[in-house]
Amino acid sequence: MVKTTISEVYKYVDQEVKIGAWIANKRSSGKIAFLQLRDGTGFIQGVIVKTDVPEEVFQEAKSVTQESSVYVTGKVQKDERSPLGFELLVTNIEVISRAVDYPITPKEHGTEFLMDNRHLWLRSRRQHAVMKIRNEIIRATYEFYNEQGFVKVDPPILTGSAPEGTSELFATKYFDEDAYLSQSGQLYMEAAAMALGKVFSFGPTFRAEKSKTRRHLIEFWMIEPEMAFYEHEDSLKVQEEYVSFIVQSVLKNCSLELKTLGRDTAKLENIKAPFPRISYDDAIKFLNEKGFDDIKWGDDFGAPHETAIAESYDKPVFITHYPKAIKPFYMQPHPDRDDVVLCADLIAPEGYGEIIGGSERIHDYDLMKQRLEEHNLEMDAYKWYLELRQYGSVPHSGFGLGLERTVAWISGVEHVRETIPFPRLLNRLYP
Ligand code: 4AD
Repeated sequence: MVKTTISEVYKYVDQEVKIGAWIANKRSSGKIAFLQLRDGTGFIQGVIVKTDVPEEVFQEAKSVTQESSVYVTGKVQKDERSPLGFELLVTNIEVISRAVDYPITPKEHGTEFLMDNRHLWLRSRRQHAVMKIRNEIIRATYEFYNEQGFVKVDPPILTGSAPEGTSELFATKYFDEDAYLSQSGQLYMEAAAMALGKVFSFGPTFRAEKSKTRRHLIEFWMIEPEMAFYEHEDSLKVQEEYVSFIVQSVLKNCSLELKTLGRDTAKLENIKAPFPRISYDDAIKFLNEKGFDDIKWGDDFGAPHETAIAESYDKPVFITHYPKAIKPFYMQPHPDRDDVVLCADLIAPEGYGEIIGGSERIHDYDLMKQRLEEHNLEMDAYKWYLELRQYGSVPHSGFGLGLERTVAWISGVEHVRETIPFPRLLNRLYP
């Protein structure tokens, strides 16, 4: 008999197979038992009919508890009504390990309880679907950048400098020196772009932000491409092509997961480049005309502002050319205006907020030196970064896409805490 997985049962229609699985859920009547089986690759319903199996097998199926691990043997049958398209007519069940009083029952549980039990909550159908979509986005990311000739480069996690401002740093000791957990690999990726042309990184980043919102994690994963000889507009093209590619890949390869999550896929189908653009100036005007009197030129957008802007479009929208004063030191000034920089944030539809922040980088040595001084950054720590402008400096641009916010948007999941296996949130470091 073949030992297989739920994802492969389609190969064995009308044949008997053996599957290692867990009991996700169960219901039974006098004559028939239904086992919801899961094995990591998927979910399938197992049906056991009392009159078709030895009595002890039927009794085992009736008494097996939720989340017990089992080997089940059964015949694969086509079943149009099930999401998978197949069910298992079970002929035998061997319990490997019996679970007692599994805490997450089919009834509703509160968020804090589920978060305390994240190590078990991950087994649920919904969390399984979100993790599969996260994985597909990562897979598609590698495919996209590899096909476009980018080289994957890994910046360090322990760093001596702070690209996105010093207030949100996690400080630690590096033997006798002060060190920080990386908030962004960007500065290192700029060095890598001068060596390899087009590069991208994918890794964890850390921000000691005291924000408790549906969009903020303390530890999150970022994809950071950096491209030599790319100007602002060239970078926006990469961004819209990349985001379109990952959305279309999820639609193609995760239809079952999107269905499990009840995602309205019509809202994803038209996510194709090009994406609309609105300047910061026009965005402020738009908001003021809409009646937002809590924001004026020079302020950063809050979540309600971003949502109001995004609502005017059915695709992600770039907000471009922000004021210099509210953006990091490294952004290239607008050629005709000293008050704004060549940057863009990409705002996802449906209230999911900013998923990408990016810019063209200052490549002029004197200007970069001046900016570092204006921002009171320690010259010693940035000496190597400044040197990139000393030896064959070129225009270059890059951006960072926040993986968890992107997973939340594409999955249609309200809060980023469900988009990473073990979320690190304000006041939560467990499990
Ligand atoms: O806009 P940010 O801060 O940009 C940078 O870090 C640049 N150095 C990237 C670059 O140009 N290479 O962050 C980029 C993205 C945001 O758009 C958002 O999606 C995500 O990272 N992000 C967060 N995601 C979850 N929780 C947080 N606390 C986040 N902060 C930023």
